[in-house]
Amino acid sequence: MSEAPLRFPVSRPVLAGRERDYVCDAIDSEWISSTGPYIGRFESAVSDYLGIEEGLSVCNGTVAIHLACLALGLRPGQDVIVPSLTFVASANAVAYCGANPVFADCDPETWNITRESLEAVWTPSTAGVIAVHLYGLPAPMKEITELCEERGAWCIEDCAQGFGAKIDGQCVGSFGDASSFSFFGNKIISTGEGGMVFVRDSQKRTFARMLRGQGMDLNRRYWHPIIGYNYRMTNVAAAIGLGQVEKADLHLGERRRIAAHYAEALKPLADEGLIALPVEPEGYHNVHWLFSITVAGGAGVRDRVGARLRAVHGVENRPFFVPMHKLPMYDRGQSLPNSESASRCGLNLPTYTGLAAADLDVICEAIHEEVRRESRVKVAA
Ligand SMILES: Cc1ncc(COP(=O)(O)O)c(C=O)c1O
Repeated sequence: MSEAPLRFPVSRPVLAGRERDYVCDAIDSEWISSTGPYIGRFESAVSDYLGIEEGLSVCNGTVAIHLACLALGLRPGQDVIVPSLTFVASANAVAYCGANPVFADCDPETWNITRESLEAVWTPSTAGVIAVHLYGLPAPMKEITELCEERGAWCIEDCAQGFGAKIDGQCVGSFGDASSFSFFGNKIISTGEGGMVFVRDSQKRTFARMLRGQGMDLNRRYWHPIIGYNYRMTNVAAAIGLGQVEKADLHLGERRRIAAHYAEALKPLADEGLIALPVEPEGYHNVHWLFSITVAGGAGVRDRVGARLRAVHGVENRPFFVPMHKLPMYDRGQSLPNSESASRCGLNLPTYTGLAAADLDVICEAIHEEVRRESRVKVAA
C-alpha cells in the first residue's frame, strides 16, 4: 500500500500566544540557562492555574516522577503500585530508585486504575501508589487516596496527560502527596521538553528542590550535603511554557470541542458495538489529551483500521500503550485482562488546538469507512 501524504497528525504543539516574544526576550537578556525570570514566572503561572502550591519546574516529566518518589522517601526494595496501562516513564521512575513497580489492572471503561485493582495487588511492602490520569480522564482520586491513607501509603499523581482535568471542580495534581506533569511537545501545554513536580509537604518540597539542583544547600553555594541531580528547566523553555499556560483555557477548550465532535460523529459506530467511546463519569472533567476509542475485534482489526487510516486517508493515529507487565524488564507472567484488552483494541486519534470541524468530519468519515469495511470482512468470513 503506497502511503497518502500525512494530512492530520495525532498531535501538534500550537504556539498561539506570546511564546515567541518571551523566548526572544529570554535570548536578548542572555538568561538562556536554568536561572532567569521566566522560570519563576512559569512556575507561578502553572501553580496558580492549577490551584496547587509551589510547583518546581524540571527538565521533563519523567524526572518529575523520580523527584516525587525520592521526596516521599521511596527506598530500594519497596513496592510501588503503578497502572499497567500507562507510558513506561511512570514505572521507570520507580525502578530508578531501586524499588519495584507492581502493576495494577484498569477499569474496562475508564482505562484507569480503581480502588479494587489496587487492593488486588497490594503487598506488605507497598510504600505508595502512582495514579495516572490516562488520556486525560482523572483516575478516581478520592477512592485511591482514601485507600492509601487507610494503609499508610503515599500517593503520587502522574498528571502528564491530565493538565487541567478535574474531579468535582478540583484539578488533578492536588489530590496526592505529590504530583508530576510533563510539558513534552505533544502535551496539552508544552515547553518542548519539560515538566513540573508538586510536593505537598513543605519540608519534602525543599528536599525535592535540593535534589533538582545537584543536592546543593539552598542557602550555601557549593555545599552539597546529599547527592542530587541536574533536573532543572531552562529559562528559554520556561519562556515557551509561560506563553502556553497563558493560553491554557484555549487549549483545554479546543480539546473539549474536538472530543464532543468525535463523540457525536462516531456515535452510530458505538451504538452498533463496533467501537467504544471514552467515558466521563459524573463529576469528572476529561481533558481528552488524546481522543481515544477502542475498536471491537482485537488487535488485528485495530491495526488494520489504524494502518488504513494513515495510509489511505493520511490520518495519523496511535495504538494504546503496551501494558507494562508485558515489557521484557517488567514481565513476571502476570495476567491483567482489562489492560491487555484495552491495549489490543485502543486507538488514539488526532487531537490538537485548531483541528477544524471540517477536518474532523473528514477524519470521522474515514473512521466510519474503515471500521465498517472491517465489520464487512468479518461478516463475509
Ligand atoms: C503518563 C506519562 N508519564 C510520564 C511521561 C513522561 O514525560 P516526559 O516525556 O516529559 O519525560 C509521559 C509522557 O508521555 C506520560 O504520558
